[in-house]
Amino acid sequence: MSNHIFINEKINNFKKKINIASDKSISIRSILLASQAVGISKISNLLESEDVLNTLKAIKKLGINYKKKSGDYFIEGFGLNNFNINKRITINAGNSGTLARLILGLLVKSKFKIRLIGDKSLSKRDFSRVIKPLRLFGVNILSKNNSLPIEILGTDYLRPISYNEKIGSAQVKSCIIFCALNTPGTTIINAQKSRNHTELLLRSLNYPIKVNRINNIDRISISGLSQFKSFKYVIPGDISSAAFFIVLTILSNKSEMIIKNVNINESRLGIIKILKRMGAIIRLKKKKIYKGENTSNILIKSSKKLKGINCPAYLNSSAIDEFLIIFLVAAKAKGISTFKNLGELNKKESPRLDIALKLLKIMGIKVERKNNNIKIFGNPKLEITKNIYIEKYSKDHRVFMMACVAALSFGGNWKIADKDSINTSFPFFLDILKSLGAKIN
Ligand code: S3P
Repeated sequence: MSNHIFINEKINNFKKKINIASDKSISIRSILLASQAVGISKISNLLESEDVLNTLKAIKKLGINYKKKSGDYFIEGFGLNNFNINKRITINAGNSGTLARLILGLLVKSKFKIRLIGDKSLSKRDFSRVIKPLRLFGVNILSKNNSLPIEILGTDYLRPISYNEKIGSAQVKSCIIFCALNTPGTTIINAQKSRNHTELLLRSLNYPIKVNRINNIDRISISGLSQFKSFKYVIPGDISSAAFFIVLTILSNKSEMIIKNVNINESRLGIIKILKRMGAIIRLKKKKIYKGENTSNILIKSSKKLKGINCPAYLNSSAIDEFLIIFLVAAKAKGISTFKNLGELNKKESPRLDIALKLLKIMGIKVERKNNNIKIFGNPKLEITKNIYIEKYSKDHRVFMMACVAALSFGGNWKIADKDSINTSFPFFLDILKSLGAKIN
């Protein structure tokens, strides 16, 4: 079966209420924490994408049993560090940086060597960001060039650390938190702002974790070795997946969409703030709080008066996975948009900044780049008529979805390779597009 798609027509107007893929970050964290809880946890509305299925496979390899019943997942944990292995094992994190980096923090007491591997894209990514703090705890880690494969051998002599997390990476912060759970004493992390699902989940489990905001830094203290009971969790929708439909609606004619029950945690809200400043019509409706996480329905309308933005860098971490799709709005907006310090984008599943700028240029949009600061010269009349072939993008799911939205919004004859890439985060992405009337072959 061919693994590319063709889009040769813009999408017609639509009016629709949809459910979006469940949140990937919370799905992965809830599985990993259920594996450390005492008793059987029930996780509902779990995202069934490759990154999450690889997380389930990983805990299974570590001797944790789970089963699926009537759509819910039941995971049986035996408390902190009670993995049940009696030989060396290999864990394959596939494409998932989140799984690979977070799980390392839970393997720090393993009596047997554990080898962590991943796919081609993950094997190119930098792990020094987690290896460095884990070594400070006293963990033995072997790796060539700070990348996968990594071998980790646990120790009984972990010591708490005080660490300045300067990247603003939730994966690094969560890896340290997970290691701190297994470490006697109090670990302190002074973390640059990033998504805080791990902290909120632990707090909802009454785990002794405190967070104080001091001058824009989160000072997190975690007391180690406190057991926690199994839990129930219903995963909300993922704003990073919703982002593609938010932008598709904004760029379409006379369309309207409601996306139900999306996580709108403040640390993920960058896309909404940025797009609203650009003139997009977006409303958050029926706001709720669930276990410390904010959720709401998102109402979006076609937006005709889009303007460029001088995007402040402090919003970067809360929109880190959404810049590709935000760039499409900048392409259609009146005036110039500027974005600063986007170097982290090149450290994702693909060199996303490089690839996105190339795509914008192919679309006929003028872009300028100085180091990791970029300018996009918007064209409110943008219409594409040529043939565009998107390939060789390291099968990055977000690049694939960006290209689909560009094709459906601006026209042209697009061939987009590697449709399986969406299985990473959003397996039914194309089905929703088709239900809106998109013609995709
Ligand atoms: C994630 C954190 C972000 C994000 C990734 C998911 C998480 O990565 O890009 O898609 O679930 O913790 P960084 O922490 O490296 O910024």
